Amino acid sequence: MKNFDYQTPTRLVFGKGVVNEKLASVMNQYGKRVLVTYGGGSIKRKVAGHAKSLYDEVMDILAGKEVFELPGIQPNPKFNPSVLEGVHLCQEHHIDVILSVGGGSVLDCTKAIAGVAGTLEGKVYDHVEEAWDLVRGLRPTTAAVPIVDIITMAATGSEYDMGGVISRTETNDKLAYFSPLVFPAVSFIDPTYTFSVPVKHTLAGVADCINHIMESYFCAEHIDMNDAFMEGAVRSLAKNVKRVLANPEDYDARAEIFYATTLGCNGIYCLGNSPSGWPMHAMEHALSAYYDITHGEGLAILTPRWMRHILTHASGELHEQVVERIEKFGKNVFGAEGCEASILAIHDFYREIGIPMTLREVGIDESRLGEMARHVAELEGLDQAWVPLYEQDILDIFKACL
Ligand code: NZQ
Ligand code: ZN
Repeated sequence: MKNFDYQTPTRLVFGKGVVNEKLASVMNQYGKRVLVTYGGGSIKRKVAGHAKSLYDEVMDILAGKEVFELPGIQPNPKFNPSVLEGVHLCQEHHIDVILSVGGGSVLDCTKAIAGVAGTLEGKVYDHVEEAWDLVRGLRPTTAAVPIVDIITMAATGSEYDMGGVISRTETNDKLAYFSPLVFPAVSFIDPTYTFSVPVKHTLAGVADCINHIMESYFCAEHIDMNDAFMEGAVRSLAKNVKRVLANPEDYDARAEIFYATTLGCNGIYCLGNSPSGWPMHAMEHALSAYYDITHGEGLAILTPRWMRHILTHASGELHEQVVERIEKFGKNVFGAEGCEASILAIHDFYREIGIPMTLREVGIDESRLGEMARHVAELEGLDQAWVPLYEQDILDIFKACL
């Protein structure tokens, strides 16, 4: 078992009604000037079981504060304009705390805003490249504006981790931004807000979390307790997503999914395991950078093809490890016997719940696969992954996904 050094400073406030019960007292711990960040408008629609939209609930709770707004943060959030605009608002209005209301994209964007605004001296529009260097980790984050969030999508686990993923359209980059200073101070997780999440994003969120777990499960050194956590979480996700498909307002099913996704990207499922290099995420980030596709769909498409590729290409002791991992995962999650059946089981599960399972179905053809494979090979360090991947491997996996 590997050594570990673990700390998550985020307070999780989970359950039905928690925003109305506790958001006011949490926000009163900070100053008066609040920046509220949100996406394309889902928070302005009324959700079953709530008298008002989440936006109206929040604005009522913030009455008496000086409230500024950054709307329009897109899925796969963009450095330009959203991060830059948010930093500008923080600088101009001396923001005390940012309240992120929305999915993982809104929260990821908020984290980058908080870190850049806290660290950068001087006006952001005069220092765009310095701000970008900070996001991609070439400059350290030395301070951050505090973050509180209400997370409305069960998917990324951004509410319980210190990372965010930011796209820069001009360069086709989609990069992870990390700093312990951008852990949210408090995350509100009320599963009733996810009643309105469209089927497409409900499924993509489940696939994202399953993949976070698989990226942690498929590694060289692992312990039985972590295997049990992770297999149990995927079984729960697979069961509860079907309950949600049958009834989108099934509170307990939505809640169990949210519990799994909140823990999914924080590392807590795999303390003591060796790192894997997160190869599927590295490849997916190129797909969503070049084509703006939904992250969880890209991951679902890649998963069985990556599994088959490593099974075919790993040799010697590494091959034995790959066989052991695939067989154990398939058996304990899906009751499958053997590697081939395990790979098919995850493919068929995704197909059955309704996720598109080829790149063509999400609008990607062969024309830019080579360029994307080169981008991933040059930037993502997958030659250091548990099963190393080079440009040709990445290209072969992309082609198998067509
Ligand atoms: O923009 P609005 O109108 O809010 O609509 C959103 C968006 O269109 C909608 N939505 C969110 N909550 C809703 C809702 N619609 C109805 N009811 C609700 N309650 O759903 C759409 C997708 O939202 P988005 O925030 O993009 O989804 P998600 O939470 O899956 O975030 C995806 C982003 O997170 C990154 C991904 O790469 C992608 O950019 N990731 C972040 C990670 C992290 N911070 O740790 C790890 C992940 O691996 C991932 O890479
Ligand atoms: Zn993910």
